[in-house]
Amino acid sequence: MTNTPKPPHGRIPHAPTEFKGRTCSIVGVGSYLPQRLMTNADLEKSVETSDEWITTRTGIKERRIAAADEFTSDLATNAALRAMEMAGVEAGQIDLIIVATITPDMPFPATSCLVQEKIGAGRAATFDIEAACSGFIYGLEIGRQFVMSGTFNTVLVIGAEKLSSIVDWTDRNTCVLFGDGAGAAILQNRSGAHGLISTCLGADGGKANLLQMPGGGSRCPATHASVDARLHYLRMEGKEAFKNAVNAMCLAAKEALFSAHLEISQIACIIPHQANLRIIEAVRDRLDATPGQLFMNLHKYGNTSAASVAIALDEAVRTGRIKTGDRILLVVFGAGLTWGAAVIEW
Ligand code: ACO
Repeated sequence: MTNTPKPPHGRIPHAPTEFKGRTCSIVGVGSYLPQRLMTNADLEKSVETSDEWITTRTGIKERRIAAADEFTSDLATNAALRAMEMAGVEAGQIDLIIVATITPDMPFPATSCLVQEKIGAGRAATFDIEAACSGFIYGLEIGRQFVMSGTFNTVLVIGAEKLSSIVDWTDRNTCVLFGDGAGAAILQNRSGAHGLISTCLGADGGKANLLQMPGGGSRCPATHASVDARLHYLRMEGKEAFKNAVNAMCLAAKEALFSAHLEISQIACIIPHQANLRIIEAVRDRLDATPGQLFMNLHKYGNTSAASVAIALDEAVRTGRIKTGDRILLVVFGAGLTWGAAVIEW
């Protein structure tokens, strides 16, 4: 009998950090937040709410709202340009662009195609993915597979959202929670740079009803009746989403750590999905992490879905919270339900 530790979920995660001499590193990050600030005091003027309620129930103080003529592809483009600058990568070097979003500029073509044109990455293949708030980590893992296999050398992964376009501004249960923004990362096979050590991805389609936008797809195309019934807005069962978020994020974090052969105490910085302070604190406690390990910016931006951990990662790097050699844990949860975690060596 050996004492080989069992993975927390019963699966054996397989995440080689090197494959045929190739590694996958994050060589640049960037983010972009629209200029317009919306504070809790602003929301008090439009719905029956208070700064006290929003702050104690969520931790959010303000969020950014994109201008009427500023779209998800614009937010994504600005974040991408900053990541490219940090990475020292020219547009012509990018082989693939992945945009994670639930608020594309339009149902088709893909927002990633629009970004390709805007940054001038004419030789890049592009596609969008939709995994809601988990989209950036799904994108990182997909990008990693392309880099590790040798199919592509340089992959641009972006999480970008204009959630203000699908928020029901008359529904106090949801409108106080969300904001707009974008974050990006450049992945490359570049030895000696920052490595993606392990990832864990999961989903539970049986709970799709907890977070959804019912209108606008093939099930419920836009009609006068669907607009009148407010079906083209985001809906959420907050309490159930909360419980599932805590469970799924803990599971994902434990799997990614197991796969990376690391303990939580070896993680210098935990970047959780910035949805709710209480969710983050519950996850921290269940993982036996300390407050000092957490990076949070949700008080400034609210929940920016697929952009959330991408923006936070960029801020943590640029403010010196993350230093070379640090091990970082990203952990996310979102509609689908979907969840994921990634361990990165910076
Ligand atoms: N201001 C004042 N009162 C409010 C507000 C508000 N903005 N919103 C709700 N309330 C009221 C409710 O109507 C309710 O009143 P009642 O008791 O008279 O019916 C009361 O406050 C309590 O409401 P709860 O829903 O029980 O509040 P809760 O403590 O659960 O907090 C919240 C709600 C913040 C939404 C929380 O459940 C949450 O964060 N859930 C998870 C959200 C999340 O992480 N989503 C996943 C990612 S999103 C994505 O993927 C797109």
